[in-house]
Amino acid sequence: MTTPKKLFIKTYGCQMNVYDSERMSEALGGQGYVATDRPEDADMILLNTCHIRERAAEKVYSELGRYRDLKEANPDLKIGVAGCVAQAEGAEIMRRQPLVDLVVGPQSYHRLPQMEAQIRTGVRAIDTDFPEEDKFEALKARPKARRAPAAFLTVQEGCDKFCAFCVVPYTRGAEVSRPADRILTEARELVDRGVRELTLLGQNVNAYHGAGPDGDWTLARLIWALNDVDGLERIRFTTSHPNDMTEDLIDAHATCPKLMPYLHLPVQSGSDKILKRMNRSHTADSYLKLIDRLRAARPDILMSGDFIVGFPEETEEDFQATLDLIETVGYGYAYTFKYSTRPGTPAAERAQVDEDVKDERLKRIQALITRQQQEIQQSMVGRDLTVLFEKPGRFEGQMGGKSEYLHAVHVDAPQAKPGDMARVRIVESVRNSLKGVLI
Ligand code: SAH
Ligand code: SF4
Ligand code: F3S
Repeated sequence: MTTPKKLFIKTYGCQMNVYDSERMSEALGGQGYVATDRPEDADMILLNTCHIRERAAEKVYSELGRYRDLKEANPDLKIGVAGCVAQAEGAEIMRRQPLVDLVVGPQSYHRLPQMEAQIRTGVRAIDTDFPEEDKFEALKARPKARRAPAAFLTVQEGCDKFCAFCVVPYTRGAEVSRPADRILTEARELVDRGVRELTLLGQNVNAYHGAGPDGDWTLARLIWALNDVDGLERIRFTTSHPNDMTEDLIDAHATCPKLMPYLHLPVQSGSDKILKRMNRSHTADSYLKLIDRLRAARPDILMSGDFIVGFPEETEEDFQATLDLIETVGYGYAYTFKYSTRPGTPAAERAQVDEDVKDERLKRIQALITRQQQEIQQSMVGRDLTVLFEKPGRFEGQMGGKSEYLHAVHVDAPQAKPGDMARVRIVESVRNSLKGVLI
């Protein structure tokens, strides 16, 4: 028997990269690889990269440089770069870094097994195509190993929105939705392997329009079909765009039993002038009206968002409008970013805001967000929630899991196993999590 080769994958960026890394690991499993979390033991190192903000490529080069000694010690070690930096700068990476054997873009993962065979013969491989074939189908061969209770499932990929700051339409390509039956099959397989909660992924997940048995399905149709999958307990989806929040999806938040009361709905700015320049094609007011409709459908829905500060030509007044919008909405979670120039995007060419102004605004927005998050987390104390246990906590007999609202909850539950669900009374809010007791 040959000893299995070891694969070390380091994942950057969004949840879709996490999903992609799992799929790549499974694809290479067919080539005799098993996962390791120690790069020094690996026969193949794969960096699954993100290109969303500045210095992404530099980070990749410096990480690659750290593997030089490993490659000298083990000439059989192969090094690959995957993900959005690979898509954007693949040829450049090959030219600049001879250590790299393989470059693969997000749409070509299914070709990894052939590429691996090629690099084993000493020939470097690069694939950053947007191929015609369905990579998800080609990646089908999947092991039946147990999975953690919460998993991601990509249903839609790519983006046609072209926000003026964003590289995603270039790195992930045009919007594509997977057919509904394939998603349902994958969901059932995941449930058979122990999954209880699915987060449906897409760069614009609510623009989902995959082929169904009776014409194209909306995301709401897909969610309702998943609601009927036995053994699946919870459904979430991310990331949504305000312009694709359709009536049936809002309605699903009111009526679909397994759909969780949580929504990540980035708005980026509270200033209409900035939103226009960002090419967001919604206003602050239309966003707030949308939130009103969501809350009318599901009063306890917990909102999450993304914000960019220091976008070109953002004035103090524009920034204040963003703070006002945050005050009005009340976010349970939010991700705040300093605007970062991305070559090839329209906003990169415009008059930039000073770095210290951006720093100062970031501090202020983060202070506000932290306060809101803490208040909302604190408001859970005294409430009875349902927790899906994911893994043992730090202390003996303790289990950690997530509430409906995605807060981390720790509970003394010596009998519980990952995948179990329990009703829990929340007794305390500590920095980044809640403490609960079994009811
Ligand atoms: N719709 C996408 C958004 C991806 S990028 C999704 O599926 O998640 C995630 C967030 O990064 C964006 O919402 C935006 O707030 C931020 N972002 C994107 N480009 C950026 C840039 N050039 N500078 C700063 N933040 C950026
Ligand atoms: Fe980027 Fe905008 Fe598309 Fe989101 S909607 S991926 S921010 S271009
Ligand atoms: Fe990054 Fe690509 Fe995701 S740029 S955020 S890894 S889509």
